[in-house]
Amino acid sequence: MPKEPVEWLGDRLRILDQTRLPQEEAYLDLGRYQDIASAITELKIRGAPAIGVCAAYAVALGGLKIETRARAEFLKELRGIIRTITATRPTARNLFGAVERMLRAAEAGRDTDRIKEALVSEAVKIHAEEAAATGKISQLGAGLIGDGFSVLTHCNTGALATAGYGTALGVIKKAAGQGKKIKVLATETRPLLQGARLTAWELMKAGIPFTLITDSMAGYFMSRGEVDCVIVGAARIALNGDTANKLGTYTLAVLAKEHGIPFYVAAPTTTFDTTLDKGIDIPIEERSPEEVTRIQGVAIAPEGTRVANPAFDITPHHLITAIITERGIIREPYGEGLRELK
Ligand code: MRU
Repeated sequence: MPKEPVEWLGDRLRILDQTRLPQEEAYLDLGRYQDIASAITELKIRGAPAIGVCAAYAVALGGLKIETRARAEFLKELRGIIRTITATRPTARNLFGAVERMLRAAEAGRDTDRIKEALVSEAVKIHAEEAAATGKISQLGAGLIGDGFSVLTHCNTGALATAGYGTALGVIKKAAGQGKKIKVLATETRPLLQGARLTAWELMKAGIPFTLITDSMAGYFMSRGEVDCVIVGAARIALNGDTANKLGTYTLAVLAKEHGIPFYVAAPTTTFDTTLDKGIDIPIEERSPEEVTRIQGVAIAPEGTRVANPAFDITPHHLITAIITERGIIREPYGEGLRELK
């Protein structure tokens, strides 16, 4: 990775625009919280941990620009800013967890100067913690990947998605870095091609051999014994382990079960939603029909075609072999496993 995909510059946030990859490595300087909110909605920055980190910086940036020195008025304005930021994408738990932390940090400040300082330092802390968590997840998860394994992954869960080392893709990178001769199968991940555009870009930069497949080829390769394990990230995980992740994850989990292939989820504990018992209660984002009827602006379906475009699906806990977190690897029952993490 030549530069950081997310970099705080004191008065603005620099991000690598993921919508322009792999054609162009274009960085955007975002000086207003509204710009960060739009970048999240438009998937210029994406992936649950990275969304959380950028949301935290958006709250900091919004707070720095508030003019009033009256504490109550300041907090009222800040809550308005937070409402705009949380309206961007409904599924990624990290977004909500990060802004809740930012609000608590602000509420603890005695006056507006101190609140502004606290907002910046809390955002930097959230970023550092999320990045550190991905390093630990990668280290722990790499222990599950044997030498010579063929590993299938979905969507993009690397540095781009985490503002750190990566979750599922971090595990793959770490295992390869340990000298294990692994093969990677990366699904293209329709409709927005995070696998083809972003995972392929990251694996190529890392010098890790991989094969790009279309989403519908996964069963073919599993049935031929060419997949030793599946590893994916998560957008939100309920207490029972039900996992919302990029659409198509559920299909992969069912296929993995049918073929007796371990199915791992790699995610920081900040992706768990401890207020939800089951996955059915996780809000699923419905995105624009054009993402399905067009590929990079080119129409592939007749005008007027009716479209469904849920961005995530829910994989039930019983299809998940283990969840790799930064504080340990947990298995069924996940609620108990989560409580026992140090
Ligand atoms: O819509 P996206 O690209 O933000 O979806 C990303 C995913 O589903 C990821 O797997 C998840 O957020 C985890 S990223 C480490």
